[in-house]
Amino acid sequence: MSKETPTRNLALDLARVTESAALSAARWLGKGDKEAGDGAAVDAMRISFQSMEIRGTVVIGEGEKDEAPMLYNGEVVGTGNGPEMDIAVDPVEGTRLLAYGRPNAIATVAMAPRGSMFDPKPAFYMAKLAVPEAAKNVVDMDAPVADNLQKIAKALGKDVEDLTIFVLEKKRHEQLIADIRKAGARIQLQTDGDVFGALMAVNPGTDIDVLMGTGGSPEAVLAAAAVKTVGGELLVKYDPQSEEERKALEAAGVDMNRVLGVNELITSEDVFFAATGISEGTFLRGVQFTGKGAVTHTMVMRGKTGTVRYVESHHRFDKLMEISAINYDVEHE
Ligand code: FBP
Repeated sequence: MSKETPTRNLALDLARVTESAALSAARWLGKGDKEAGDGAAVDAMRISFQSMEIRGTVVIGEGEKDEAPMLYNGEVVGTGNGPEMDIAVDPVEGTRLLAYGRPNAIATVAMAPRGSMFDPKPAFYMAKLAVPEAAKNVVDMDAPVADNLQKIAKALGKDVEDLTIFVLEKKRHEQLIADIRKAGARIQLQTDGDVFGALMAVNPGTDIDVLMGTGGSPEAVLAAAAVKTVGGELLVKYDPQSEEERKALEAAGVDMNRVLGVNELITSEDVFFAATGISEGTFLRGVQFTGKGAVTHTMVMRGKTGTVRYVESHHRFDKLMEISAINYDVEHE
């Protein structure tokens, strides 16, 4: 078998991007202003991308150019040298979690070779089903909830009653929640953050076995990058939540019955993912300000090698401020 020399691990560069977003966003923890927290993260992330040796195109961004002045879909980022990459960003995944100081707000980015990331537009929402490696071949997006749960439980060597399902606490999930309860499984309801939910589901040894329910379509692509590295499956299907969204999907001629897995959401194995904790969380601690700087915790993944790294970084604001255009230190505002 021929072996290629490992190329540079771009995920380590991505860690700098998510760290800067988390450092800036964390100033807004609990302040009740989700736009300001998100805006600070976007600004910082965009500046950090400037020095990255890639020819990057944002394919999952903050929205269309007219509505999102920065990190908009189609925006070109990086130095213009290096590999051509598709980029998915979520400067704050869980803006409400940040605004209310709740756990598991993260800054996250995924990257894969140009043309390999699924473009969900005009879909805002997708139904999702994420399971760990051991159950990846038994799930069926179109099967009744109880059937999936029985098969997942068997594959994991558990009883259905042992399973815990991550579900976003949304009105649209009333029937899903009732079906899960009827099947006998347990539920963890979270107000936001289904990228983190998918990560929990595919990582054995967490409190979550499965993610079910409908969330954002950008978050599906981001989560797919992580699932491709860790293993497991994330199945998704269009699930428009308004008449307008449904009509836009019909006009775009998409097949509403199509089920996509991680290999359709990102077709390349050469995928990179990074997430930095903003608020305290299950995988990642939040940003800890120390007076003169801050400590961040980041998970960094590379699909090709399957390596997952946890990076703890100690930042010194006096030195950072000498070289960076990002204002990390509130005293200097
Ligand atoms: P934001 O960070 O954009 O607020 O997204 C948080 C989130 O909970 C996602 O994790 C999830 O996919 C999506 O919102 C669900 O959307 P909605 O809150 O509209 O149901």
